[in-house]
Parts: sequence; structure tokens; C-alpha cells
Amino acid sequence: GPSYEHILTETPKPGVGLITLNRPKALNALSSPLFKELNDALSKYDNDKDIGAIIITGSEKAFAAGADIKEMAPLSFAAAYSDNFIAPWSHLANTIRKPVIAAVSGYALGGGCELALMCDILYCTANATFGQPEIKLGTIPGAGGSQRLTRAVGKSKAMELILTGKNFSGKEAGEWGVAAQVIDGGKEELLATALKTAETIAGYGRVSVIAGKEVVNKSQELSLREGVEYERRLFHSLFGSKDQKIGMTAFAEKKKPDWSNE
Ligand code: CAA
Repeated sequence: GPSYEHILTETPKPGVGLITLNRPKALNALSSPLFKELNDALSKYDNDKDIGAIIITGSEKAFAAGADIKEMAPLSFAAAYSDNFIAPWSHLANTIRKPVIAAVSGYALGGGCELALMCDILYCTANATFGQPEIKLGTIPGAGGSQRLTRAVGKSKAMELILTGKNFSGKEAGEWGVAAQVIDGGKEELLATALKTAETIAGYGRVSVIAGKEVVNKSQELSLREGVEYERRLFHSLFGSKDQKIGMTAFAEKKKPDWSNE
């Protein structure tokens, strides 16, 4: 595959694209060059017919310790505004259609927390460290933290976290519904769980998986009635897919479906 400077990419299981953030000396601080590579790798996996699910992880010590503070420190308003600083970070949430799992060990602070929240499924270790510490730097979350964390934990808790900058643990992330699963153990056990889920998802038909992700994401944007109608229309449209016939016929015949991805 392509060679990158700040990330590693591999396909450890059939259908699974694994992206490892790899700037160990800066605790995977999310610089613009790193994000450019991350977006490139995400797009390549999204466009690769052999890939059905993507995992983003970091090191044992850090998923990512935030946006790159040293890059941001001298930035002017005019430069940030006119270059639309951090807007490329929305590529994951706005463009990537295959499921993305965040596997978080260690620090997920600021932009690192926001990156994890952008992913479709979040797994973490019990002693992972999340937080939005931007207030301590004289600023606020800039990559969706105030919106996604609030939707995940509710207004009062999000206010407390964002206005005090205090951290929360992986264990708390699980209790509050930020994380789908909290893994007892370290990076190895965490990655094993993420890989298992990614493999499961990659084993289903691509069309229904993409549709499933799309309708869940719509729930974050639409009213309940609009969301339910949107879901029903997409559900209707899947009767036009081969995989719906393959899946339901296989059930009736007590066979394993052989997905066509059509
Ligand atoms: N940006 C740039 N460099 C960073 C960084 C960041 N976000 N986080 C850590 N680093 C660098 C440190 O500067 C240090 O580099 P040097 O060796 O060259 O000094 C190296 O990574 C190791 O870090 P520490 O020595 O600080 O490691 P530690 O174990 O003592 O502490 C830590 C770990 C508590 C995570 C601490 O590094 C820290 O507080 N980092 C900053 C966390 C933060 O404030 N993140 C939010 C950034 S703002 C943001 O993300 C905006 C947004 O919403 C998009």
C-alpha cells in the first residue's frame, strides 16, 4: 500500500482496514500533515471493494493527545478562517461511508477525543483518558466536541467537561454511553475486540452495512418523524438489492448467505 509518515496502514483480517496513528514522540498529536494522510487512507479503504470496515487506533499510551498545539500556537484568526483550519477533519464524518471503529487506549484529549467521537463505534480500555481540555489553552473544542460530546452525554455533563477541562476515564465513557464497549486489559485486548467487530461487519453485504450506518447517522440530524420516514424509504430501497434476496432466501433455505455486495 501507500507509505505514510505519520500513520501505519494494514489489513490484518480479510475485509478490515487498520489505521494506526503513529507520531509517538508527540503522543499522536493531530497535525495537518497527519490528518491529510489519515483522510487519504480513509478514502482509499472506503473506495476499496475488498474492505468492509475500518479501525482507527493509536498506541498503548495515546490514541491522540489532541490537535497539534505547536502548530496552532502562532495561528492568526485570518489564517485560521481563510484556510478553514480543521475543516478537513470533517472528511471522516461527512464523506466516509463504511463503518469506522475507534479503538482508544491511553490519551484521547481535545481533538483526539473529537476524532474518537466522530467514529461510528467507540471501543476503549477502562483506563483510557478522555477529555476536552481546550479551555485550559484559552480556546474551545474545534472539531465537533461541543456537539458530539453533548449528544453523547447530555448538556449538563458536557458543559461540566468542556468548561472545567477535566478528564474522564474509559470506564466512565462506557457508563455514559460514549463507548460501546470498555475492554479490561491493554491495547492488545482492545484491538482484538475491534478486529472481531470489524470482521463481523465486513462479513455482511456492503450495501446494507452502508445503509445501516447512514440511517443511524440520520438520527443525529433529523426529527424523529423525518428520521423514521428516511429509514423506511431506505429500507424500501433495499428490496431493490440482490443481497436482500440472497439474505432472506438463505434464511428460508437454512444456508449461509453468499453476499454479492449488489
Ligand atoms: N500537540 C503538540 N504536541 C503535543 C501534544 C499536542 N496536543 N500533546 C503532547 N505533545 C508532545 C509534548 O509537547 C511532548 O513533546 P516534547 O517531548 O517535544 O516536549 C511530547 O508530546 C510528550 O508529551 P508530554 O511530555 O507532555 O507527555 P506526558 O506523559 O507528560 O503528558 C499529556 C501527556 C497529559 C497528554 C500532555 O502531553 C498534554 O497535556 N498534552 C496536551 C493535551 C491537550 O491539551 N490537548 C488538546 C489540544 S487543543 C485541541 O485539540 C483543539 C481542538 O479541539 C481541535
